[in-house]
Amino acid sequence: MEILKPDERGLRRAAECIARGGLVAFPTETVYGLGANAFDARAVARVFEAKARPSFDPLIVHVASLSQAESVAREICPKARALAEALWPGPLTLVLPKRDELPEIVNSGLSTVAIRLPAHPVARAIIELSRTAVAAPSANPFGYLSPTKAEHVERMLGDKVDFIVDGGACAVGLESTVLDMTRDPPRMLRPGGMSAEAIEAVIGPILRGAAPSAAAAPTAAAASPGMLDSHYAPTTPLRLVGEGELSSARPEGRAAALVLDAGRLKSLGDAAGRFARIRVLSKSGDLVEAAASLFAALHELDQAGFDEIWAERVGERGLGPAINDRLYKASKKI
Ligand code: TXA
Ligand code: MG
Repeated sequence: MEILKPDERGLRRAAECIARGGLVAFPTETVYGLGANAFDARAVARVFEAKARPSFDPLIVHVASLSQAESVAREICPKARALAEALWPGPLTLVLPKRDELPEIVNSGLSTVAIRLPAHPVARAIIELSRTAVAAPSANPFGYLSPTKAEHVERMLGDKVDFIVDGGACAVGLESTVLDMTRDPPRMLRPGGMSAEAIEAVIGPILRGAAPSAAAAPTAAAASPGMLDSHYAPTTPLRLVGEGELSSARPEGRAAALVLDAGRLKSLGDAAGRFARIRVLSKSGDLVEAAASLFAALHELDQAGFDEIWAERVGERGLGPAINDRLYKASKKI
């Protein structure tokens, strides 16, 4: 494995590697992806192997333009087109009918394919230079926290990839929102970096998906395996409590706490003394900033060897549902 700078030479080497069937981890605005040529079934098989990902969990195909999306999707319905035109490039993945040319391993044999046009210039340049659509799950072992920095990828999958392109920290920090466009109204399969409000402003009401607690069982029948419990989990047990409930927490052993903002930190009062470390996600309580630092904070606390990590739910506006979803899944490690 070699770490590449995102300069012209690095981007070219990364793209050539993908075109030849290699595996390249690269930054997107959401999280780092583990990319392979979507039309090369062997390369895609290596992605599943590297992540120890079950074959029933389909990958997202990344494209550099709407016209390239048409080489992967059989049909782009008017609502999907409106969303692509308004919100791409960005943290929104559209599930659309798949073209036969795409190998079945990419989408686990479903009739649909998930497609996304990322906003990160490094991701876009690699896709363009590789001259192919790029299948890329988050670059973490299956079930573990997603990476938002090159060093996270190096630590988790460094021995399994050909290159890691280091583009610094990911600005959004949460995976894309996955929206099933094969039904009307469309259904949100995974809350993520694009808020439901932003989507509804373009196409009107959508179904917001199942509540996390009602998430599907881990079988091939799951609508979107990203909805499974016990995804995005740190190794350290994570205890999730309701908004404002951390002040009555009784942690066991050496514990760390994750709170949204300076106000929440202050309101902990005496309870603050029960934690060995308290990490504030955004001083001002900005949910965009909190989302951007969530996985990095969890990686950091997980590495520090605490007995427990305690976290508090945040409000349900904007990126709140996506943050709560990741915290919930982190707390559900089997
Ligand atoms: O932000 C992101 O989406 C990142 C970056 C790298 O683009 N990628 C990512 O990929 O999070 P991954 O593989 O970790 O999550 C993909 C999610 C999974 O929950 C998967 O089940 C769902 O998308 N998915 C993929 N194809 C699908 C399909 N045809 N129908 C329903 N869900 C699908
Ligand atoms: Mg993932």
